[in-house]
Amino acid sequence: MTKSEPVGQSSSDTDLAGTEVLVVVCGGIAAYKVCTVVSRLVQRGAGVMVAMTKSARKLVGPATFQSLSGRKVLTSLWRPTADYDAQHIHVTERANLCIVAPATANIIGKITAGIADDLASTLLAGVACPVLLAPAMNTAMWENPFVQSNVARLKEAGYHLVGPGEGWLACRTVGIGRMAEPDEILTAATQLLKAGRSGNSNPCVSS
Ligand SMILES: Cc1cc2nc3c(=O)[nH]c(=O)nc-3n(C[C@H](O)[C@H](O)[C@H](O)COP(=O)(O)O)c2cc1C
Repeated sequence: MTKSEPVGQSSSDTDLAGTEVLVVVCGGIAAYKVCTVVSRLVQRGAGVMVAMTKSARKLVGPATFQSLSGRKVLTSLWRPTADYDAQHIHVTERANLCIVAPATANIIGKITAGIADDLASTLLAGVACPVLLAPAMNTAMWENPFVQSNVARLKEAGYHLVGPGEGWLACRTVGIGRMAEPDEILTAATQLLKAGRSGNSNPCVSS
């Protein structure tokens, strides 16, 4: 590697080259940690398309994800990018994996109810590739019986979950609901992407 070669671009590091990942960022306080996930995927050679909900954009600016992914960020069904291939149908068609992080109580509810009322939920309603969710919310929301039954339905339907874990929460308490750390999300994502390559797209990574 020459001095000017970007870190992560040597051939041994690019184990995810040729893969396409759709990252749906939702309005949880852990959205900033998803920047690390996107950056690491890109450094390892994956093509990453980021879609953000309206709430997510109040927490992290799309320019951050655009810069990290090197691609335009999808923010609205009604504001298509200049690149026709980036339209929602094509994005979901070419993704090998979709990561939803942080997966809010809201998006979990929408997926299980089949609701498609914005870009993120519309993408998720039509996605054909494996979906990995990293739920994050405060303990009361996570323990809400409707959220729990939605999570159970997602698992039953073959969706993959990583976390949540226990720890310090944004509401300044300690409990369950903390989003899995970027490394855990990357490990689960790598497993799914590599399983997809070997023809087994449904390894069990649910927690
Ligand atoms: C500062 C802040 C942090 C939030 N963090 C979370 C969170 O971690 N998990 C969650 O489910 N909702 C969280 N919410 C509430 C969601 O943003 C809200 O339910 C929103 O409707 C989610 O929309 P989305 O799923 O389309 O992103 C938070 C709200 C605010 C104002």
